[in-house]
Amino acid sequence: MSVPSLDRGQWSGKLGFILAAAGSAIGLGNIWRFPYTAGENGGGAFVLIYLVFVALIGVPVLLAELAIGRKTQRNPVGAFKALVPASWWPLVGGLGVLTGFGILAFYSVVAGWTLGYLFMAVTGALHEATTADVSGTIFTGLVADPLWAIVLSGLFLVLTIVIVRGGVSGGIERATKILMPLLFLILLALAVRATTLPGAVEGIAYLFKPDFSRIDAGVVMAALGQALFSLSLGMGAMITYGSYLPERENMPFAGVSVAIFDTLIAVLAGLIIFPALFAAGGDPSGGPGLVFIVLPTIFNALPGGTVVAIAFYALLAIAALTSTISLLEVVVSYFVDERGWSREKAAWLIGGLCFVLAVPSALSQGAVAALSGGDEGLIAWDFLTLNNNVWGNYSLSIGAILICIFVGWKWGLPNAIASLEASGDRLPAAGAWGVLVKYVCPVVILILLIFIVATGTYF
Ligand code: PHE
Repeated sequence: MSVPSLDRGQWSGKLGFILAAAGSAIGLGNIWRFPYTAGENGGGAFVLIYLVFVALIGVPVLLAELAIGRKTQRNPVGAFKALVPASWWPLVGGLGVLTGFGILAFYSVVAGWTLGYLFMAVTGALHEATTADVSGTIFTGLVADPLWAIVLSGLFLVLTIVIVRGGVSGGIERATKILMPLLFLILLALAVRATTLPGAVEGIAYLFKPDFSRIDAGVVMAALGQALFSLSLGMGAMITYGSYLPERENMPFAGVSVAIFDTLIAVLAGLIIFPALFAAGGDPSGGPGLVFIVLPTIFNALPGGTVVAIAFYALLAIAALTSTISLLEVVVSYFVDERGWSREKAAWLIGGLCFVLAVPSALSQGAVAALSGGDEGLIAWDFLTLNNNVWGNYSLSIGAILICIFVGWKWGLPNAIASLEASGDRLPAAGAWGVLVKYVCPVVILILLIFIVATGTYF
């Protein structure tokens, strides 16, 4: 089936695509979410399952999304419409657009904190964070201050909007081409620094030595959610980004490169945070504040710590920005392609609405007790964690199952493989990929979700 092509811009080539897609994948998921989730779930065992899921579920789903995107040249909803008109499949794309919106509304809050920390690192306010107690107070002072929390997430959304309204190659690509290599270099330098600290070995062992007694359904679910979240899968971000990759480019190579970069960065982040943490005698299960509370104390104990802190929070903000760009881009491309909105209008309207929905998450870290979970909260989870779990784990998992079922059983593997191989480059191990997409991924994710619901296991 040929799909009429719209004039909607393309990546200038493979490198632009890889950088932008890796920019989507690499973000707070790798640097904020991966370490604290690993720390909460016992370290090595979680990391091992996460790595297995990246290879057996992440890469197959990533290729499935890219195949749909390049074939249809559409946003997630339009893609399903183009392949199977007059069916309920476009709703899967609709779920993806909604999920992108849902993720952006809490992600921008944490991204706002990175700006706050960057400001504090630059002004020297972080200098006082020499002990975990003081550092914790500084963290709470920022995240529980309603004005700061709201203003910072708003500021981050404005940055995102300004880039997305510039369009694919003008805005997104130009920004990520500079930002991604920079980010990698800073991370590498920090990892070298952290792993050579006295006592770092313990942190490395924590990250890589699995304690199998720690594995339960909650850990497995956390690892699956993390693999999907980190690779930006299950909501059509990679359908959207794949739709901008020119036909002549080798798609399997580009996709696998993105997965490798993303995983490398998560491991690098782990190699910064855990050795530094153990060297300073910290607790790995510090929760969502891990990066924010523990690291300043470590930076302050380092020679040249101020520069390291500024570099680190700048890179965290950059990594977050290239991810929020992709989240907003999914929703914007839907309104541009399907509803005929201008990019400018879509970016500002959707970004603005997202800001409104980010407010309760911004206020859920202590500013408003009813939203902050625990005994005084309306529900056990704070609103930000609730969103993180609902959109970031469950919605992505459901989306990933449906995308696999679509590619494996509805659209068909031969069509998907033809799209992946459109440049003439072969998909290596195409048979194995087919088995993973058609059987392994949907079955494994479904069993896990049923198990989680049936046993009432949440994390
Ligand atoms: N992968 C991004 C990160 O790790 C988050 C994200 C999820 C972006 C889903 C787009 C889609 O931070």
